[in-house]
Amino acid sequence: MKTIELEGPVKGVKGELRVPSDKSISHRAVILGALAKGTTKVYSWLRSADTLATLSIIKALGVEVKEDAEGVLLIKGKNYVFEEPKDVLNAENSGTTARLMMGVLSTQPFFSVLTGDESLRRRPMLRVVEPLREMGAFIDGREKGNKLPVSIRGGDLKGISFFNKKASAQVKSSLMLAGLRAEGITEIVEPVLSRDHTERMLGAFGVKLTTIPEERGHIVKLKGGQELVATDIFCPADPSSAAFFCALAVLAQGELLLKDVLVNPTRDGFYRKLREMGADVEYVNEREVSGEPVADIKVKGGKPLKAVKVSGEEVPSMIDEMPILAVVMSMSEGRSEVRGASELRVKESDRIKAVVENLRAMGAVVEEFEDGFAVEGPSKLKGSKVKTYGDHRIAMAFAVAGLVAEGKTLIDDADCVNISYPSFFNDLKKIL
Ligand code: S3P
Repeated sequence: MKTIELEGPVKGVKGELRVPSDKSISHRAVILGALAKGTTKVYSWLRSADTLATLSIIKALGVEVKEDAEGVLLIKGKNYVFEEPKDVLNAENSGTTARLMMGVLSTQPFFSVLTGDESLRRRPMLRVVEPLREMGAFIDGREKGNKLPVSIRGGDLKGISFFNKKASAQVKSSLMLAGLRAEGITEIVEPVLSRDHTERMLGAFGVKLTTIPEERGHIVKLKGGQELVATDIFCPADPSSAAFFCALAVLAQGELLLKDVLVNPTRDGFYRKLREMGADVEYVNEREVSGEPVADIKVKGGKPLKAVKVSGEEVPSMIDEMPILAVVMSMSEGRSEVRGASELRVKESDRIKAVVENLRAMGAVVEEFEDGFAVEGPSKLKGSKVKTYGDHRIAMAFAVAGLVAEGKTLIDDADCVNISYPSFFNDLKKIL
């Protein structure tokens, strides 16, 4: 556990940055590559603690993975025929690894056990365990299967129709990956479209699926028995990582160009919200990469910002950016409010509690709700001790807060940025 000290306020930011690749896409590239027939090449894959956990599980299931001289991953797919793992599989801190792999393991007739670190062992798993059981998998675990470790024996699945009430992309993806080896049709309906990278990437692997946007919700359907055909995947920069730099540029003077960022509409809610607040955030050089929209993001700082509301429907498209959005809200004019975001309580930490506590320690006026928070701005933030709770996004959000606050800020466990962004503090130095 390394403590980092930051001194603010910084004068401004300047330059350009290509932040590390998207974590959600990097997980999926490795998993889908392992499920496919043939060798998949993954370019610009994110190497972080979370994605390495996925990679080591895939290897433990008998998948051969090589890295070439340029750092491209070569994954020799097993066409859904894996080997029984010899030991417990460890998803470490990664909810995406645990929940997506539960879907994959549910298609396999062998015995496997999946666990995680202290944080992941606290997080709810019934949201995937229940529908996977309904499809026919035998899953047991702590607290009737709600908590890791869980044991799984799968195979002989049948398709189901499932209402994804929490609009969780992890649940949707898990059921889709199981559905590909189930009899009949698997259908997932969600009230708001959650991140759709699995749908897009399955399309790149030649899988046919139907997506229907309609009144009662968004529907995705697929037929079991389809094969994935190996392909090349290019991973764009992660908008959730770029968000910290974008926020810093918005709050300080100067200009920043964030290169190759994924701007999928199910992920870019934070950037749209910043524009609504009055920030100067522009997408340039928009293009499509491996079926995903990508752009360079040009940010000019120092514009006056006004308070905004975030409703439950808007939450999924900015769920991982809530801690940094709260920091921006604290420096905006008026009362901002986030509602319908109770999912934040079951992330890597209780992010509502962590945000409220740390913002208050820095002098902001914050109200806590069960499903969100309100922030009264603008506050003149002052440096303070930040409690990260081992949560990478809390560490990075409050590092940004510390850089715009007056005085010294101490981040208690700075190493946790390795979960998604190992070079975060080095990249900060490049633009200050
Ligand atoms: C993710 C989905 C989201 C998000 C997480 C990554 C994914 O979680 O918060 O960081 O890659 O599918 P939920 O599915 O729980 O909403």
